[in-house]
Amino acid sequence: MILVTGGAGFIGANFVLDWLAQHDEPVINLDKLTYAGNLETLARLQGDARHVFVQGDIGDAALVSRLLAEHRPRAVVNFAAESHVDRSIHGPEDFIQTNIVGTFHLLESVRAYWGSLPGAEREAFRFLHVSTDEVYGSLGKDDPAFTENHRYEPNSPYSASKAASDHLVRAYHHTYGLPVLTTNCSNNYGPYHFPEKLIPLMIVNALAGKALPVYGDGMQIRDWLYVKDHCSAIRRVLEAGRLGEVYNVGGWNEKPNIEIVHTVCALLDELRPRAGGQPYAAQISYVTDRPGHDRRYAIDARKLEAELGWKPAETFESGIRKTVQWYLDNPDWVAHVQSGAYREWVGKQYSGSAA
Ligand code: NAD
Ligand code: TYD
Repeated sequence: MILVTGGAGFIGANFVLDWLAQHDEPVINLDKLTYAGNLETLARLQGDARHVFVQGDIGDAALVSRLLAEHRPRAVVNFAAESHVDRSIHGPEDFIQTNIVGTFHLLESVRAYWGSLPGAEREAFRFLHVSTDEVYGSLGKDDPAFTENHRYEPNSPYSASKAASDHLVRAYHHTYGLPVLTTNCSNNYGPYHFPEKLIPLMIVNALAGKALPVYGDGMQIRDWLYVKDHCSAIRRVLEAGRLGEVYNVGGWNEKPNIEIVHTVCALLDELRPRAGGQPYAAQISYVTDRPGHDRRYAIDARKLEAELGWKPAETFESGIRKTVQWYLDNPDWVAHVQSGAYREWVGKQYSGSAA
């Protein structure tokens, strides 16, 4: 089995659902259930013996060591993190605690466990750390996309905390020989994305008749990847990545934010036209820019393709259409996130299995 951390969040939950849809290898899912953790996303796994959910902190060494000793996973995939840049600007401390201190404690627990494994299991063990392209900082308009050798220049408390965690993971490989793999991925989008992030926020606000807040001039560029393509990249790196290596993951989909917002509006105009016939783009509102806002991210994913044969399955056009449709088809998931009702799921649905 494998141990996934942060598997009730956006990408982690998509990863767990995809993993168990593809084969029967069980997953222990360790998640603290912060505001971003949502067990409703995993509702379809209720009663599925292949999924063991445990509420807890990656920084809780006693808990993590017990889970490792009891379940003897062949790999740990670390998604757990505080992930929202704007929150990191308002309050960086949780980012330092989970992304840096938490990752450190997790690495310590995993190192002790890995060191205790007999030869073949020790040989096969992997620790995969899921990270972000934001550690590389901001690109100029004509700069080449980030390769794995780009220097680290994080600009927000979020990206600085992720950069620190990447360095710790690297150091545990070089110093202790821990068999690590690191992936640095561009902006994800898709089902179960918390509506504080750009794409789901725009969909949800548009449908509610609210303003669509575009920061600054809206010309900041992000490189978008459909979440299931990120999940397939992680599976591939886990399967065949070279130890100690870093793999950039991206979809070759650089777009300015304002274009993303217009695309979402156009899809909603087609799929759920506004009552008065007005286009959703009429709700766009330019607002004060984010402090220290990175201008452009772009990922060069050629290493992953050349070494491991990975390519994204979705184009931006197909992925964004699926995403908008998913939000239209799942109003209850959105409503429960907005009302906070999703937090009651811990007690209601998992009372037997939460540790
Ligand atoms: P998310 O905020 O949706 O989910 C994070 C999950 O981690 C939540 O379920 C939360 O409860 C859990 N968590 C937080 N602190 C924890 C702790 N101390 N112990 C255990 N669990 C804890 O984030 P996401 O968008 O799913 O991102 C997952 C990972 O992927 C993060 O490491 C993030 O940096 C990275 N990443 C995200 C993106 C993106 O576009 N969202 C892109 C590249 C990389
Ligand atoms: P976000 O989804 O927060 O991801 P990140 O900051 O990690 O890239 O934001 C994506 C882009 O969208 C980013 O340039 C900030 C911008 N943005 C807005 O213009 N308005 C918003 O309301 C939000 C949440 C983001």
